[in-house]
Amino acid sequence: MHQRKRLRTPHIWTVSLFLGLGLLAFALAMFASPAQAAPSLHPVAQGEKPNNDFCLACHQEEGIDKSLGSESLPVTINPTQFGLSVHSEEDVLCVDCHVDISDYPHPEVKSKSIRDFQLTFADSCKECHEDQYTAAHDGVHQTAMDEGDENAPLCSDCHNPHTQSRIIGETSGELTIAARKEIPATCATCHTETFELYKNSVHGSALADGNTDVPTCTDCHGVHNIGDPTTDAFHNNTPALCADCHDNEELMTKYGLSTNVLETYVSDFHGTTTTLFEKQFPGQKVNTAVCSDCHGVHDISKTDDPETGIAMQENLLAKCQRCHPDATANFPAAWMGHYEPSPEHYPIVYYVNLFYTFFIPAVLGGMVFFILTDIYRRIVNRVKGAKHA
Ligand code: HEC
Ligand code: HEC
Ligand code: HEC
Ligand code: HEC
Ligand code: HEC
Ligand code: HEC
Ligand code: HEC
Ligand code: HEC
Ligand code: HEC
Repeated sequence: MHQRKRLRTPHIWTVSLFLGLGLLAFALAMFASPAQAAPSLHPVAQGEKPNNDFCLACHQEEGIDKSLGSESLPVTINPTQFGLSVHSEEDVLCVDCHVDISDYPHPEVKSKSIRDFQLTFADSCKECHEDQYTAAHDGVHQTAMDEGDENAPLCSDCHNPHTQSRIIGETSGELTIAARKEIPATCATCHTETFELYKNSVHGSALADGNTDVPTCTDCHGVHNIGDPTTDAFHNNTPALCADCHDNEELMTKYGLSTNVLETYVSDFHGTTTTLFEKQFPGQKVNTAVCSDCHGVHDISKTDDPETGIAMQENLLAKCQRCHPDATANFPAAWMGHYEPSPEHYPIVYYVNLFYTFFIPAVLGGMVFFILTDIYRRIVNRVKGAKHA
């Protein structure tokens, strides 16, 4: 016990001395330009990974940049923002991603533009996020990248590695509401036009109000493995895509919307043709109307919207005319919409249906009755005849 105490005192002094010198060196380093200060700023033991404070000591400084060809890349990293990021929270080190840097001066950078530099990080997330990395390799963005389109997004275009916050709730295991609301803006950095349409649609405006029942970009397209939406298969699948929610009784009653839309669609001439067509020619594009031909895709509005709603005959007519060029004002009336015929909607169809509902069983039933009684009579007659013979 005693021995230990005696030994500790000088030890503390040595440590304090070194610490003091270290701090002095650090203070000097902060005054001098980073390049000059580098040699004295080396708190990292041989073979050990430099910690984040080492890097941030220089990188929190405002206004420093790196010239890449004719462009200049700001290299300031805000320590507060970084500290709040999921990676900092999970103790991921700067050098876990910047694997080639352990000291200053840094290794030479050959990239001649900022995009070139960013592209060198294409695989830097793979080690820890293998699932997303693998999924992304099957998507449209990777295909575009492979074809030489350098504007296709890298992981870091959608997730700023230095500020990315947690998006999957730790207890829920699901995407947080805040993250979900952010998705369209993430895609909007490149798909501006689509975003503009979506933003004002019935789905997009509800999402902006915090409604998580409506579809956002990734519900219809996927996230990391986005498929090509211009294929015939994707087009033909539209009714199923929409029906995923619009067939859901519990979800739709919240909004007072009919869940009959898929059924009534399938049983009308367009839907029936689509269904038959798909059976006969799997994989080919149907020429009849699918949901999006009438409702739109990114710009879907409330059907009774006075300006764009398709419950308005002239708006609907414009949609029909794309495929039925000769259609005139009362043409849309040929389509019963998603209504089941009822005494209020399409009463004639309703009563004709009703008539047939009873008439056909009555006629068929009558015939069966007639045939059965006839057979009975014949048998009875034959038996009688046999007895008499
Ligand atoms: C002594 C100050 C200093 C330290 C310590 C430092 N950097 Fe830098 N870093 C700079 C300066 C200045 C630039 C920009 C110009 C240049 O490269 O000279 C830079 C550039 C960079 C760049 C962009 C281009 C390149 O050169 O790769 C990255 C990435 C980077 N630093 C990461 C790190 C990481 C990670 C650490 C910690 C291991 C670190 N830095 C430690 C000063 C420093
Ligand atoms: C999760 C991985 C990851 C971590 C952790 C990380 N970086 Fe980066 N860093 C990147 C990627 C990827 C880039 C490439 C540029 C881009 O696309 O944003 C980058 C770019 C940079 C740049 C160039 C300027 C810029 O913002 O593009 C600097 C400087 C830098 N990092 C410093 C740091 C420092 C300092 C730390 C630690 C405090 C750190 N990084 C932690 C992945 C990471
Ligand atoms: C050294 C390992 C490591 C590297 C490299 C790394 N990450 Fe992470 N990342 C983590 C850990 C650990 C988490 C915490 C949640 C988890 O386990 O998925 C995380 C979380 C995330 C999240 C939030 C996920 C959630 O569950 O909320 C995103 C997004 C993310 N990282 C993107 C990236 C990107 C983009 C890169 C490459 C630029 C990258 N990461 C590189 C370790 C890493
Ligand atoms: C085009 C934008 C985009 C690109 C590129 C992208 N992500 Fe994501 N990522 C998202 C969105 C949006 C989410 C939210 C998940 C959702 O919508 O279900 C997400 C979710 C995540 C998560 C949380 C867990 C999960 O799977 O939901 C991680 C981790 C992640 N991404 C890592 C990566 C990595 C690593 C890469 C590169 C291989 C990458 N992301 C590329 C947009 C993107
Ligand atoms: C950094 C830019 C960028 C970001 C961010 C981005 N994309 Fe893309 N996207 C592209 C490029 C480039 C292409 C390929 C060229 C094209 O078809 O427009 C593409 C193609 C697509 C396609 C195929 C288009 C077609 O006509 O075949 C879809 C679908 C798509 N992106 C959806 C998304 C979604 C959803 C998000 C958000 C989660 C997103 N993108 C984020 C750049 C981006
Ligand atoms: C309700 C489902 C749905 C939502 C939500 C959705 N899309 Fe689409 N998207 C589709 C369908 C269906 C197509 C194919 C359109 C066609 O058949 O012409 C498509 C096509 C695309 C295309 C390629 C052709 C074009 O029209 O530009 C891109 C890019 C795209 N979507 C991006 C996005 C982005 C970005 C968002 C979010 C702002 C988004 N989508 C939201 C269903 C959706
Ligand atoms: C993720 C679930 C989901 C998907 C997928 C989805 N919707 Fe919706 N849709 C909703 C919800 C929820 C509402 C109600 C929003 C509100 O009123 O605030 C809605 C509203 C609508 C409306 C407005 C009805 C009215 O007049 O009020 C139409 C039309 C519509 N969706 C058509 C479609 C079409 C077409 C597709 C496929 C391209 C589709 N939806 C895909 C959830 C979905
Ligand atoms: C995307 C193209 C497309 C759109 C939009 C479209 N139709 Fe059609 N429609 C077709 C095709 C193709 C057929 C032929 C189907 C068959 O042969 O069974 C058809 C058949 C019909 C028929 C059956 C009688 C006939 O002429 O063969 C009626 C009635 C009809 N459509 C009404 C409408 C109405 C009303 C609208 C607008 C609300 C509309 N259609 C929108 C493609 C479309
Ligand atoms: C031929 C054009 C056409 C097609 C195809 C079509 N719709 Fe409609 N839809 C309409 C019209 C017109 C209305 C408004 C009048 C009505 O309710 O019938 C409507 C109404 C709706 C409504 C609002 C229902 C309510 O309760 O107010 C939803 C949701 C909807 N459609 C979704 C879909 C879905 C999902 C599909 C594909 C499975 C689809 N529609 C196919 C024309 C169409």
